[in-house]
Amino acid sequence: MTPILQLDSVDKAFGGLRVTSKVSFSVMPGEISAIIGPNGAGKTTLFNQITGHLPSDAGAIFFRGENIVGRSPQQIVARGVGRAFQIASLFPDETVLDNIRVACLSRLGQTRKFWRSVLDFQQATDDAYGILASLGLDGQAHRLAFELAHGDQKLLDIGIALALKPTLLLLDEPTAGMSPDERHQMRALIKKLWKEFDLTLVFIEHDMDMVFGIAQVVRVLQQGALLAEGTPEQIRANKQVITAYLGEDF
Ligand SMILES: Nc1ncnc2c1ncn2[C@@H]1O[C@H](COP(=O)(O)OP(=O)(O)OP(=O)(O)O)[C@@H](O)[C@H]1O
Ligand SMILES: [Mg+2]
Repeated sequence: MTPILQLDSVDKAFGGLRVTSKVSFSVMPGEISAIIGPNGAGKTTLFNQITGHLPSDAGAIFFRGENIVGRSPQQIVARGVGRAFQIASLFPDETVLDNIRVACLSRLGQTRKFWRSVLDFQQATDDAYGILASLGLDGQAHRLAFELAHGDQKLLDIGIALALKPTLLLLDEPTAGMSPDERHQMRALIKKLWKEFDLTLVFIEHDMDMVFGIAQVVRVLQQGALLAEGTPEQIRANKQVITAYLGEDF
């Protein structure tokens, strides 16, 4: 099987600060995997490089065999790379439904002609309700996004990413700022979405229950470099990872 995503010696520096350094790994289609590492290790930066939000200084990033370094975020999304943010990026004054519907419309707009706009609106509305149901947010469709609880705003951000029908979905700390109960629900939901939408899924997390509970592969970044890669069991037993990040309790 060929990888769906392949990073080949990817680098990024801000001024003199090297934030990602010679990062290479391959993600297989259908895989669910985690990226972990201390604060400031370069995890979000690496996502920004994959999605084109930050230019890479060196290296190549292949998505379905094509080097996407130098492509714009819009071009990369259109190729099937979706992304939810560490801090949810919503239209706060729009309804929950409209937040998703706009994303559905923009996807339809890429492939359809203008005269279909009325049909597209109906299609986008149907698609948006389908996604809301999958997220368990259908009861809140007509509330304004800013009125939602923090956990539901994170869900909505994932919904916006799903509206673009990604093949590869990147989630940056989906459980950040959540209560233990909400985290528990988010874990189950992400696993469900991974299956239901037939995704390849890569998530960044500090919640080790989520990492070791649902990832098939775990990659550890430390000071911008890939320190280790393996199954949850291998990573848990890795002395370097224990010293750098996990501590002795794992
Ligand atoms: N746009 C930027 N300009 C300058 N420095 C930046 C920029 N973005 C990130 N950095 C720096 O790069 C380093 C890595 O940041 P990054 O956000 O990628 O870390 P992270 O692993 O996602 O951390 P966290 O777990 O806290 O989210 C940090 O030292 C950060 O201050
Ligand atoms: Mg981050």
